[in-house]
Amino acid sequence: MKSNSAELAILGGLPAFKEKLHVGRPNIGQKERLLSRIEEMLDRVWLSNNGPLVQEFEQEMAQMLGVKHVVAMCNATIALEIVTRALGMDGEVIVPSFTFVATAHSLQWQGVTPVFCDVNPDTHLLDPACLEKMITPRTTGIIGVHLWGRPCEVEALQEIASRHNLKLVFDAAHAFGCSHQGQMIGNFGNAEVFSFHATKFFNTFEGGAIATNDDELAKKIRLMKNFGFAGYDNVIYVGTNGKMTEVCAAMGLTGLESLDKFIAINRENYRLYAEGLAGVPGLKAVRYNENEKSNYQYIVYEVDDSVTGISRDLLVEVLQAENIMARRYFYPGCHQMEPYRSYFPHAHLLLPETERLATRVLSLPNGTAVGKAEIDTICALIRLAVAKGAEITGTLGKVVSLCAIRTREA
Ligand SMILES: Cc1ncc(COP(=O)(O)O)c(C=O)c1O
Repeated sequence: MKSNSAELAILGGLPAFKEKLHVGRPNIGQKERLLSRIEEMLDRVWLSNNGPLVQEFEQEMAQMLGVKHVVAMCNATIALEIVTRALGMDGEVIVPSFTFVATAHSLQWQGVTPVFCDVNPDTHLLDPACLEKMITPRTTGIIGVHLWGRPCEVEALQEIASRHNLKLVFDAAHAFGCSHQGQMIGNFGNAEVFSFHATKFFNTFEGGAIATNDDELAKKIRLMKNFGFAGYDNVIYVGTNGKMTEVCAAMGLTGLESLDKFIAINRENYRLYAEGLAGVPGLKAVRYNENEKSNYQYIVYEVDDSVTGISRDLLVEVLQAENIMARRYFYPGCHQMEPYRSYFPHAHLLLPETERLATRVLSLPNGTAVGKAEIDTICALIRLAVAKGAEITGTLGKVVSLCAIRTREA
């Protein structure tokens, strides 16, 4: 265990880990179960187009979520695009900027303008009071994001949506297996969209799903994800290819069997981080409501550099040099990415909390890739980096200036 800053890899020491520890290394369920499903699939010679594994996967999810319809999809981005079209959202749709860029891109790709709204600094979620001020005659919908798996202020958003006759969708990419007031995420708004990308705690390699209690909407989504076909040779909508393949559903069914185990591991890791980083000045953890179901997928801390003496960015560099691939989620905010930065150059003026969080939030490795030994080491390194924050900042500042002088002289 390193005990002084000179031993840090960023200052020339050896990295604490030989292999990189990623924030979201894929969780894989029981390999034999997956392989036997794949073998059966190959024997059936039914690889895509609403095969038996996709149907079984959809039924299992609907039962688990207590929702009428779940439509499995190729990924969450296409799923969001399909929901946008199926609900007839056009003009402007209000979204948080503090999210993964796919939330905004799914709208822009459909010719719908994402209007960025600020978040509540305590929850990191859409702020209903800010949102109401952003509604214009062109607004047709809201996409709330259950960031880190923590539910949005669902009732407040629904009340605003109903009062202004807006559609309400939730990007639930982070929130599979989570609940809000005892009801599983998947049941709220017009529809909710999950991501099962490989980096999510539950994955289907690539994949996603739309959950809804609206029969008509579900029917439309099923047609739209299959090019708009309503039967052989009969196309009734503009559609796309949003289908999930059988091999992805095989992975999903296998993962569902280990879902409780994945969540238990995440939860224990979350507890170990909380214990290991308790009392570190300037670090604030994102907490999960113990009275609800959570997947504990994201280990997120806010870094207040006025207290730590080391900036979030420098802390990320210190950790990455140790092969701990901490990430700056969701830096720099969608409004600072193209094309949005060019379209709305003044958006940041309305997004002070998003701007602040984008410079403070740090996400740490979780899942089956880490256990007590790794987390103890990660926490000890963070403690060391914060204890020596000002010193590391000063030393690296000098190294950077020296490099600049050498570059100039060369
Ligand atoms: C909040 C959010 N929305 C949407 C997506 C897009 O999901 P997918 O990769 O399945 O398209 C992600 C993916 O990481 C996400 O984090």
